[in-house]
Amino acid sequence: MADSGFPRELSWGCTVQGLLGMASTVTANSVGTQSGLISKPSHDIASYSGLKAAASISFESRSSFLGQNASLRSSIAPRIVPKAKSGSQISPEASYKVAVLGAAGGIGQPLGLLIKMSPLVSALHLYDIANVKGVAADLSHCNTPSQVLDFTGPSELANCLKGVDIVVIPAGVPRKPGMTRDDLFNINASIVKTLVEAVADNCPEAFIHIISNPVNSTVPIAAEVLKQKGVYNPKKLFGVTTLDVVRANTFVAQKKNLKLIDVDVPVVGGHAGITILPLLSKTRPSVTFTNEETEELTKRIQNAGTEVVEAKAGAGSATLSMAYAAARFVESSLRALAGDPDVYECTFVQSELTELPFFASRVKLGKNGVESIISADLEGVTEYEAKALEALKPELKASIEKGIEFVHKQQAAATSP
Ligand SMILES: NC(=O)c1ccc[n+]([C@@H]2O[C@H](COP(=O)([O-])OP(=O)(O)OC[C@H]3O[C@@H](n4cnc5c(N)ncnc54)[C@H](O)[C@@H]3O)[C@@H](O)[C@H]2O)c1
Repeated sequence: MADSGFPRELSWGCTVQGLLGMASTVTANSVGTQSGLISKPSHDIASYSGLKAAASISFESRSSFLGQNASLRSSIAPRIVPKAKSGSQISPEASYKVAVLGAAGGIGQPLGLLIKMSPLVSALHLYDIANVKGVAADLSHCNTPSQVLDFTGPSELANCLKGVDIVVIPAGVPRKPGMTRDDLFNINASIVKTLVEAVADNCPEAFIHIISNPVNSTVPIAAEVLKQKGVYNPKKLFGVTTLDVVRANTFVAQKKNLKLIDVDVPVVGGHAGITILPLLSKTRPSVTFTNEETEELTKRIQNAGTEVVEAKAGAGSATLSMAYAAARFVESSLRALAGDPDVYECTFVQSELTELPFFASRVKLGKNGVESIISADLEGVTEYEAKALEALKPELKASIEKGIEFVHKQQAAATSP
C-alpha cells in the first residue's frame, strides 16, 4: 500500500470541509451576541467554516464562523460543495450514517455537535452506557440535516450500529494527573474489545475510528477482534492521531509566526509520549528550526496531552481539542467516501512503512479506506528525526504486542475448559 510519490499540489491532508456548511451564512460579528447567530440569506458555502489543515488550498480572507484566523475556516473544494438550491435551503446531499460510541462523554458530546454540523451526514447515532438521551435530544434541535438517535446500554448497541458507515469510538476512561496513557490499558482494552465485537457483528464494512487510549494498543486490539470475527479489513481501521497533527500545526504556527491555517506538520509513529514524532523538517510551508526549537517543539507536541491533563487537575484529559481533531478525521473520511480524490490524513494504521505492524503516517483516504500509505514524509528526514524514529520503535512495538496479547489471552481464557 506504500506510496512514495506525494503530489505537491494537492489539497492535502485534512481536506475537512463543510462541517459548518448549513443553510445560511453566519457572520463572525454575530458570535457572542445575545440574540445568537445572525443568518444572512446568502448561500455562499465557501464562507462557512470548515475543519481543515491543508497547505496548498487557497483561502478566502473573509470572516468565518469562528473569526478571521480561526482554525475552523472555510475551505470547501468545489467538487464536494453541497449544492445551494433556491430559497434558503441547501441540499447537502447528506447520505452517510455515523455512530459515536461513548457519546455522553467529554469527547463524545462536542464531537457529536461537530458531526451534527456536517452536511454529509444523514444520521447520527449516539451510544453510551450512561444516559445519552439528553445529549441526543439537545443535538436534535440543531437545524442541520442529520437525524439524531440515541442508544443506551448493550441491549441497544446492535441497533445503533446497523447500516452505519463510520463508527467513532471515544468510549472509556480518560487520564488523570500522574497517569500515562498505558495506565488506562486495563479498563479501556476491554471496552474497545467489546465494542469492536459489536461493530464486527453489525457493520463490518464501516470505517472504524479508535480514539480510546492507549491508541497504540487499542488499535491492535480492534484488529485482533476483527480477525477473530473474520471481517478484518486493515484499510478501514484507524487510530485517531489527528490531535497530534492539530497540536503540531498550532505550536509551530505560534513559534514561527505563521498563519495558523496554512501550517501542516506530519506526525508519525504512535500516539503516546516519545512514540509521537512530529516531522518538523517536513512542515509546510517550508520553515527552518534551530536545534533548540526542534527539541522544544517536539517535546511540547509529545507532552501536550499531559499539559491538558495537568491543567484540568483531575477532571480528565483533552476533550474539546480532541473532539475538533476527531471531527476533522470524520469529515475527511466522509469526503473520501463521497469520492473526493484528494484526502490525506495522518493516522495509526496497519502499515509496512517500518518493521512495526502498525504505524502512524500520512495516508491517502478513498472510498474503501486507506488507498495508499505515504512514505515520502519519512524520506530525507533530519538526523534528529531519524534517531527519534529509532528510539520510539521499542516502546511502540511493546504497546502493539500488549494489545495483541490481551485479545489472545482473553480468547484462551474463553476457550479453556
Ligand atoms: N486519541 C486521542 O488523541 C485522545 C485524546 C484525548 C482522549 N482520548 C481518550 O478518549 C477516551 C474518552 O475520553 P473522555 O474524556 O471523553 O472520557 P469521559 O469519561 O468523559 O467519557 C467516556 C464516555 O465513555 C462512556 N463509556 C464507558 N464505557 C463504555 C462502554 N463500554 N460503552 C460505551 N460507552 C462507554 C462513558 O459512560 C463516558 O460517557 C479516553 O480513553 C481518553 O484517554 C484519546
